[in-house]
Amino acid sequence: MSITDRMKRWEGKVAVVTGASGAIGGAIARELVKAGMIVCALARRRDKVEKLRASLFDVAGNLNCVECDITQEEDVKHAFGWIEGAYGGVDLLVNNAGVITKCLLTEKNNTKDLYTTMETNIIGLCLCTREAVKSMKARDVHGHIINVNSIFGHKVHQAVPGTRPLNGMYPASKYAVTAITECIRQELVYLDSQVKVSSISPGLVEGDIVATHTINENDLVKYMPKLKPEDVAEAVLYVITTPDHVQVHELVIKPMGEFL
Ligand SMILES: NC(=O)c1ccc[n+]([C@@H]2O[C@H](COP(=O)([O-])OP(=O)(O)OC[C@H]3O[C@@H](n4cnc5c(N)ncnc54)[C@H](OP(=O)(O)O)[C@@H]3O)[C@@H](O)[C@H]2O)c1
Repeated sequence: MSITDRMKRWEGKVAVVTGASGAIGGAIARELVKAGMIVCALARRRDKVEKLRASLFDVAGNLNCVECDITQEEDVKHAFGWIEGAYGGVDLLVNNAGVITKCLLTEKNNTKDLYTTMETNIIGLCLCTREAVKSMKARDVHGHIINVNSIFGHKVHQAVPGTRPLNGMYPASKYAVTAITECIRQELVYLDSQVKVSSISPGLVEGDIVATHTINENDLVKYMPKLKPEDVAEAVLYVITTPDHVQVHELVIKPMGEFL
């Protein structure tokens, strides 16, 4: 059976994609809408989601923008409440929103960056997961939670001697996503639910997050091979279309020739 045939079970179902105003989230939201899902895009920048919506032409109506700062519990509750009122609940959650900050762990005045990384990449993901699982359990659906993790959730980049390390707080936040994915899996088993959880860990992907992290023209990041956001979106389609008894736990995707 092709992915298109297997996607039929998701037609008309409701997906929440966090960070759909960005590169990877935008590509994921686009593919899910094209596959017939109703997508609720959670992000702070409405204008970016509106732009994505306009590019979807005849299926644009299936993409909703729900303004939400995922680090704020009230925002998250309000967003999931709105979705429940409009569509009855959530069937698929893609925890994609994330930040990478330039600060080093030992740098002065880095407190805000440290908190932002942990509050977005970990706490925000947990708040959205909690609300989504509540909705899925209440309706006893065969739902799915996808955590957009990173290659840095499995290894710390080895800095070239004499150069500024790339890591800061980011790997710690993504290692947490690796652990949280397994913890959620165990909780879902305990809850006797039909909900799957998967982590997708891409290597470098083209987009703002990488551009922002490039400090100067000579940065190694600039020259490293990169995936396209669409490659991650395709992985999401694969992960959500496995048979009922198959749960992809971790999917690592590297660009060819990666030397991270
Ligand atoms: N690019 C890469 O090389 C790469 C590689 C591996 C994994 N990843 C992971 O992939 C995910 C997406 O990255 P990307 O490359 O697409 O980055 P991006 O283009 O910078 O997008 C990041 C998204 O996160 C959202 N976001 C950040 N803070 C938020 C908050 N407090 N509340 C709600 N939304 C928030 C942003 O939306 P607003 O600003 O509109 O709120 C934006 O849509 C991240 O989790 C990242 O760690 C990226």
